[in-house]
Amino acid sequence: MTSSAIAVSGLRKAYKDKVVLDGIDLEVQAGTIFSLLGPNGAGKTTTVNVLTTLVKADGGSVRVAGHDVATEARAVRAAIGVTGQFAAVDELLTGRENLQLMVDLSGIPTRDGGRVVTGLLERFDLAESAQKPASTYSGGMRRKLDLAMTLVGDPRIIFLDEPTTGLDPRSRRTMWSIIRDLVADGVTIFLTTQYLEEADQLADRIAVLDQGRLVAQGTPDELKRQIPGTHVRLRFTTVAELDAAARVLSDSTRDDEALALRVPSDGGTASLRALLDRLDEYAISAEGLSVQTPDLDDVFLALTGNRTPEVSAK
Ligand SMILES: Nc1ncnc2c1ncn2[C@@H]1O[C@H](COP(=O)(O)OP(=O)(O)OP(=O)(O)O)[C@@H](O)[C@H]1O
Ligand SMILES: [Mg+2]
Repeated sequence: MTSSAIAVSGLRKAYKDKVVLDGIDLEVQAGTIFSLLGPNGAGKTTTVNVLTTLVKADGGSVRVAGHDVATEARAVRAAIGVTGQFAAVDELLTGRENLQLMVDLSGIPTRDGGRVVTGLLERFDLAESAQKPASTYSGGMRRKLDLAMTLVGDPRIIFLDEPTTGLDPRSRRTMWSIIRDLVADGVTIFLTTQYLEEADQLADRIAVLDQGRLVAQGTPDELKRQIPGTHVRLRFTTVAELDAAARVLSDSTRDDEALALRVPSDGGTASLRALLDRLDEYAISAEGLSVQTPDLDDVFLALTGNRTPEVSAK
């Protein structure tokens, strides 16, 4: 018995002689949010397309909801919902009609359909615009309608390919809270994003994809710890204390203006204790201490884009 909602191993995909996915291994536990990060062209949408049965892999194995995408595509499709990178909303239909269309396609009995549509319109704050054609919706409304359409049929695993691209900060937060509510209900989310803050806020685990390979995987904190730059910042009230501390902690860097000292550290409890013990030993007291970790932007820049492409387009 396994609780993985998605299990991928050795996934490969090429378009002609261009390798797009070069042996991807990943596992997503049920009821968690997994975020795939990567620069433009890294292969995120291709991964989503293979996992959602839209594109056939060249090699490897992919199981979604316990089913093999290659041989049990129908069972996979029954378990998942997909919101693509580009909204699947029909511009000519109203919000209500778009949702009704999904209800009709999903085989929900007609007598329940109206209730499902109304419920989703309310949940996504679209009830007032329900009778207007989607062509008159703002980008954020369209995104919300798109996600609402994905939720028809109550999928247990949802793929979201850049769900908040182009949204303003408030709409993005609304989307985040909808995603969190889904996970609280036990839904599994596979999310791609360009926004590292989004992955940081939402994801239980993150994988960084670059040129078709996973270059890192872990919790947001694990990833931040992988790159150098984590340090402890000590603040002092007097120059004398700063001087004393700088003498004791010889590998530190001083910031005289802020009366602060930057001490390289992994930020773990053991090294913090050792650091404090050392200050104590010399009777130096710091006014404040904070552990500074690189943010995901630093991680992303350190991990992606710097390598020579092995498969060149030219
Ligand atoms: N149908 C296709 N035919 C040929 N090449 C393709 C096809 N689909 C994708 N590619 C190529 O595969 C690579 C990965 O594309 P993909 O859309 O998966 O990237 P992505 O990570 O989603 O990028 P973005 O952040 O821009 O959405 C790109 O180099 C792209 O040109
Ligand atoms: Mg994409």
